[in-house]
Amino acid sequence: MKLPTRLPIANAQRFQRRRGFLKAFATAGAAAAVAIKTKPARANCLDHRVAIAELASVGEGAFVDFEYPTASDVAFLTRLPRAARGGVGPGQRVVAFLRACPHMGCVIRDLKIEDAVLGPCGCHRSRFDLARGGRQIVGRASQDLVQVLLEIDDGVVYATGLAGLPYGHAMEG
Ligand code: FES
Repeated sequence: MKLPTRLPIANAQRFQRRRGFLKAFATAGAAAAVAIKTKPARANCLDHRVAIAELASVGEGAFVDFEYPTASDVAFLTRLPRAARGGVGPGQRVVAFLRACPHMGCVIRDLKIEDAVLGPCGCHRSRFDLARGGRQIVGRASQDLVQVLLEIDDGVVYATGLAGLPYGHAMEG
């Protein structure tokens, strides 16, 4: 799979425009909104179920790239040397994360993992602890790497959603 250098910013620009609109809308309509019954919150519309790989084929240190949540996003599936938050399979060691760095969207190309720590990101040297939900532990990023939620069904690992908002995407309802 050919990796992009950085994610397209079209979504980020759309997000900025949408933020401005939402701010104006919220100010003007706040009083009226109180009286309106709201619908139950929807799940992130980026969330959907996609088969990634057979669990048995994911060895420790191996990476399986897949497109998620859109065809423009690259994620990876791997098996860590120890149990991980959100991990699936025996020992809860199989995890998946987006390759897009949460700092400025650089695609983390070189997947070096030492004791479940990924990095550094090639742009500004951030590192992320994959056993702790992608927690940012050093570098310029101020947010965690976005984890892909997983489930296993009949020996196959599925992506079912995201544990955060990926860089460049807007939350849409
Ligand atoms: S884009 Fe990764 S640390 Fe800046």
